[in-house]
Amino acid sequence: MKSNEGNTKGIILAGGAGTRLHPLTKIISKQLLPIYDKPMIYYPLELLIDAGIKNILIITTEQDIDKFKNLLGDGKNWGVNLDYQIQKKPEGIAQALVISKEWINSSPLILILGDNLFFGEGFNQIILEALKENVGATIFCKEMPDPNRFGVIELDNQFKVLSIEEKPKNPKSNFVVTGLYIYDEFASENASTLSKSKRGEFEITDLNNIYLRDQTLNAILLDDRFEWLDTGTFDSLLEASTFVKNNK
Ligand code: G1P
Repeated sequence: MKSNEGNTKGIILAGGAGTRLHPLTKIISKQLLPIYDKPMIYYPLELLIDAGIKNILIITTEQDIDKFKNLLGDGKNWGVNLDYQIQKKPEGIAQALVISKEWINSSPLILILGDNLFFGEGFNQIILEALKENVGATIFCKEMPDPNRFGVIELDNQFKVLSIEEKPKNPKSNFVVTGLYIYDEFASENASTLSKSKRGEFEITDLNNIYLRDQTLNAILLDDRFEWLDTGTFDSLLEASTFVKNNK
């Protein structure tokens, strides 16, 4: 089944301890920190809303859930329905899909990490097209100078994905998987078959590898027209704010 029937649900994952941003994130979730004039989570939220997603689940920690509720409410102001769920421990992105199995209720899905910011004219169009065309899973990739910090894809000369490795020591390419994923209605089911990785997480890379094995993984390369900002460090936080300010 293609995900183009307008019933795709959205999930924003805003968990994690944000330890690299201490003391900023000691009492506030990283995804609530400002990126220029808005809390970080507004960016992934607006991305989903612009893609026409009406039902959105925010998955966060026990400590932060009320802050997100206070900020965003039930979504009426945005014309969407917002729900909230707790991920008790930071045990991986794929675990979020298992926790939210009932909420997902076998719908197709778009998942975005709450600290991933995407910019560029026409990006919304790319997502709309990808939602319409998705069979299995779709990932969005970007060329990066430091691929070993991410999920890295290996490609053949036709730009077909051969493998995905999570934070490899010797990356097979400079193309990395960004924190935006589209899945068919089997994502939770597939995620519940995974085991924990060496770093103690249920890896989204392992879920994507299931789709790759089934030959239903589509990779979309985001070229230089698109900016992908990761906000894991003080410098990248500042860079993101400056980027937003200069591009307003
Ligand atoms: C996660 C994923 C990784 C992906 C990255 C994008 O990494 O595991 O594959 O490239 O998000 O932001 P983490 O944030 O867990 O280090």
